[in-house]
Amino acid sequence: MHQIAIAILVTVLALLPGAGTACAETIGFAQVGSESDWRTAFSADMKAEAARRGIHLLFSDADNNIERQREAVRGFIAAHVDAIVIAPVVVTGWTETLQAAKAAGIPVFLADRAVDSDPSLFVARIAADFNLEGRLAGAWLAQSTRGSCNIVELQGTAGAEPTLQRHKGFLAVISQFPNMRIVRSAGGEFTSDGGKRTMAEFIRATDGLKNVCAVWSHNDNMLLGAIAAMHEAGLHPGHDQLMVSVDGVPDIFRAMLAGDANMSVELKADIGKYIFDVVQGYLGGRRDYSKWVLIPSDLHTPADAAAVLGRRGS
Ligand code: AHR
Repeated sequence: MHQIAIAILVTVLALLPGAGTACAETIGFAQVGSESDWRTAFSADMKAEAARRGIHLLFSDADNNIERQREAVRGFIAAHVDAIVIAPVVVTGWTETLQAAKAAGIPVFLADRAVDSDPSLFVARIAADFNLEGRLAGAWLAQSTRGSCNIVELQGTAGAEPTLQRHKGFLAVISQFPNMRIVRSAGGEFTSDGGKRTMAEFIRATDGLKNVCAVWSHNDNMLLGAIAAMHEAGLHPGHDQLMVSVDGVPDIFRAMLAGDANMSVELKADIGKYIFDVVQGYLGGRRDYSKWVLIPSDLHTPADAAAVLGRRGS
């Protein structure tokens, strides 16, 4: 009798939701798009980390379209997911959507980028400091040029947090040096094609980058596009102009080894573990997370390019 009772109990327990085996969380992730090598690596890391943890991940790619992204989040709310992670295309226009998630009792976490809505509408942001990245780039360039340099700037997607903050941080540093100034600045959408197109315009407008000593790009892919445009114009990126950017994707280290690029501030792409630690911790009852869980940055030059590629096995 005793054994039958135990067998029935075990069966009942196994059938109960969440009893015995942890019930897999369903998490909706609203990604920006696939505009850069960094973004693609970040998406792959999120999917792999979710699989490792047995998380049921609903993944949406907004293709840099903010309306499509908000729609995806509304879809997650309607699907009653356990939590929502958003990498917002732009900082503005999120309040209504975040209020809808709150009303539905679904916690929201921001990854990588920020919004300008009331912080009470999301649990935490897990991200690097984009302003610091701009300051690091400005300081490295000031030191490398002894504070005297005309710069052309490749900006990211208009209204996106990294664009706003990298620009601001960079300006905050170079404005301390009277002989450093941005002489041209235009967007490239964080893509290689965008960087190439905008650099071709800069080359035309400055008679082949005359009196320009550096190119500051908000991400590596735009800089790689710019390098291609400069080669096509018979110029010598990395020599006649210093080439500075952000992300630390494998191809920028290859460009450094080829002598075409000089510095990149690394934005870590393998941040899935930090994000899901916070999300699962919160779903498990933890309530002591700071509003901004900071991801550390790093800075690379040709001096450590080969070592980084070796470490990454790429
Ligand atoms: O939000 C981070 C930025 O978005 C990366 O620097 C860039 O590559 C991507 O488009």
